[in-house]
Amino acid sequence: MTVTVPVALGERSYEVVIGTGLLPDAGSRLAPFFRRPRTLIVTDETVAALHLAALQSGLEAGGIRSEAIVVPAGEGSKSWPMLERVVEALLAHRVERDDLVIAFGGGVIGDLAGFAAAILRRGVGFIQIPTSLLAQVDSSVGGKTGINSPLGKNLIGAFHQPRHVLIDIDVLDTLSDREFLAGYGEVVKYGLLGDADFFDWLETEGPRLRDGDKSGRIEAVRRSVAAKAGIVSRDEKEHGERALLNLGHTFGHALEAATGYSDRLLHGEGVAIGMGLAFALSARLGLCAQETPSRVAAHFAAMGLRRSMADIPGELPDADGLIELMAQDKKVVGGVPAFILCRAIGDSFVNREVPPEAVRAVLAEALV
Ligand code: GLY
Repeated sequence: MTVTVPVALGERSYEVVIGTGLLPDAGSRLAPFFRRPRTLIVTDETVAALHLAALQSGLEAGGIRSEAIVVPAGEGSKSWPMLERVVEALLAHRVERDDLVIAFGGGVIGDLAGFAAAILRRGVGFIQIPTSLLAQVDSSVGGKTGINSPLGKNLIGAFHQPRHVLIDIDVLDTLSDREFLAGYGEVVKYGLLGDADFFDWLETEGPRLRDGDKSGRIEAVRRSVAAKAGIVSRDEKEHGERALLNLGHTFGHALEAATGYSDRLLHGEGVAIGMGLAFALSARLGLCAQETPSRVAAHFAAMGLRRSMADIPGELPDADGLIELMAQDKKVVGGVPAFILCRAIGDSFVNREVPPEAVRAVLAEALV
């Protein structure tokens, strides 16, 4: 069973195909996109060990020859040295302007391979085959690509839309519970930012899809991708509405920076904790009902998701230290960070005028 979500972007439009059993079928599904039947797959060591053989034989079955560039797993690969390595390897493999590169992995690989494709020969096309829930519902769709700077996350990059996105739900079976739940934080984000019915549905169906139900997972990914595709097609370059996708990210990025982008806190966990803080801030500012943050926290708790700063092992900076880290966020304009706040579940908006003392108070309360 497959479902298709279109991303409408004029001549750069593409489709996201979601289903099961897609890797063995990759060759016949992707052959129409190739001008010559060869490709380079950029992946990481973990995904390569688990799924590369399946993808390569699936491509081969459709007549597409492939070779792989395998980089270390983890956020550390979103770096200048790794970008150089990937770009030079693609050139050494004689990737031409009309060839397509495949990004096969989680968010790190999609961002790294997509950025390499964006700058190689002034831009070659690429296909996203995301393997983490987080990449399936967020980073593989919408064309944000890039690497991290020592000064902050995602500060170097380009918008470069993929030509196609192939989402095989089966690969989620090999994720750890923690990785799955971190991605689930991004699924909940779509309900919280703009679709209260979806959040209601997740409150009921979340445990079933966490426990492996494939049709529930397809539906959750479809609704997430459809929400993202709608936003991206209305505001591709983030001049307005797309910023709502950053719900939880201003807090989350500061927490990720505070924990050194390490295993102490996965990106999706930072976003989940950040969304809890965004709702706490909204309630403190009188924007949403006082009980709304508790409803969000109750769903995260029911799913077993990390949801508060107390769930992060080790020391954290104090409230002022975290506010300092927010100043490095790429959403800062004129030194003022943007916060996505909520009037209710499913009703969010961007606010650049949040009083710093309210942010400090929310963080101080969450740190005790
Ligand atoms: N992950 C946020 C965006 O794609 O805009």
